[in-house]
Amino acid sequence: MQDKPSFAYGAGFRSLTREIADPVPLPIAGTLPSWLTGTLLRTGPSKFEVGDRTYNHWFDGLAMLHRFAFAGGAVTYANRFLESKAYRAAASTGRISYGEFATDPCRTLFARVAAIFFPKLTDNCCVNISDYARQAVAFTETSIPVRIAPKMLKTLGVFGYRRALKGQVSTAHPHYDAARRRHYNYIADLGLSSVYRLVSIADDAKQRLVAKIPVVRPAYMHSFGMSDRYLVLTEFPLVVNPIDLRLSGKPFIQNYRWEPERGLVFHVVEKDSGRLVKTATTDALFAFHHVNASERGGAIDIDLIAYDDASIIDELYLARLRAGTPIGATGKLMRIRLLIDGSDNVVTRRILADVPLELPRINYERCAGKPYRYVWGTGVKVAGDFLDCIVKIDTETGQANTWHFAGLYPGEPVFVPSPAASSEDDGVLLSIVLDIERDHSFLLVLDASTLTELARAEAPHAIPFHFHGNYFPGA
Ligand SMILES: [Fe+2]
Repeated sequence: MQDKPSFAYGAGFRSLTREIADPVPLPIAGTLPSWLTGTLLRTGPSKFEVGDRTYNHWFDGLAMLHRFAFAGGAVTYANRFLESKAYRAAASTGRISYGEFATDPCRTLFARVAAIFFPKLTDNCCVNISDYARQAVAFTETSIPVRIAPKMLKTLGVFGYRRALKGQVSTAHPHYDAARRRHYNYIADLGLSSVYRLVSIADDAKQRLVAKIPVVRPAYMHSFGMSDRYLVLTEFPLVVNPIDLRLSGKPFIQNYRWEPERGLVFHVVEKDSGRLVKTATTDALFAFHHVNASERGGAIDIDLIAYDDASIIDELYLARLRAGTPIGATGKLMRIRLLIDGSDNVVTRRILADVPLELPRINYERCAGKPYRYVWGTGVKVAGDFLDCIVKIDTETGQANTWHFAGLYPGEPVFVPSPAASSEDDGVLLSIVLDIERDHSFLLVLDASTLTELARAEAPHAIPFHFHGNYFPGA
């Protein structure tokens, strides 16, 4: 029997420990738009070894912050570790000290008992950076976001939630409602009786409980949906008995079980009243990312990147990735329509474009929560390969355009609207691309409408594959 092919992408999962604290100008090929004045901030796992141990999973690595600052047709770069408690403890003890997504510290019997009664949540915010109450904040999937100073990539401290909003598990994908001038997020409080709390964080930092939804077997939910009037909590049937999180002795995600017979359950909550207006169930699927949600008469469309099951999580263990193992699971852009008027459980679903898609972005400022047309993301051109292309999908026609070159692995394409934009896709995409052969990364700037290349800015090193970030306009 022939061995399965392995791909060269594995090099994207090596540690990067070099920090460049003082911004350096990057050489540019092509031309950056003269209007591009602002900062792209990104975070991602960057150090996978501590002492003699290696983290188990891509999602576990210690967070590195990256900053690309644009002005006057030029760009500078800096990168620093997020100085979280998890990072500082690893640096000072030489040991993994905080439990991550799929890795636990080695604990003595005493420490194991202590961890049951006084669990230490990680603040290793390696998943996303967003503005949050007008501050730059890094996120992971615990309820401990960390504030950062973008100019120096300095770690400032925890973004504290009110005690009444307490919980352990949250999402790194808060939504922003520009009309209401507030972010929304959820925080799950897991225990003998568990509850999902939908919360809002206003621009003036006031925090408010929007709704509470009791739950017996909480689901793993990496993101949630938001339309103009509603928040949509999507319970994938990857669920946990909360007691196991305390007592099993297993890392966080290994306590969750895939139970497809539960189906996929939506909870639709009205933002302004906190009223649960609909709970609906459909066949099981899994997703990390919601793309957008919008209201159509008495229905709501929820677009997400759908997988048949949660096996993609297993495919992202570090040893598999470093070996360039072919990846079997691929997500596709699916639209699920729920009827929210009336008591009927009417749900329809369809694939909008039959191509793999992940790390989706939209023109968020213009279209968040509203009908929209375009999605950008990373895709897979060569079957089994890691995310190896940038895709633009037209949700109205199902047409997909791609940017792909063999050996180049692009990350999440962040859409930045042109200041004089006349259409939804008038702007640029910013993506960090790893050139495997040259062992170097560059910042790629594409015309978001045509995927035509405008410029490349060479980074000083190879940047490991990572997840998310955002563009912060202004000097
Ligand atoms: Fe994500």
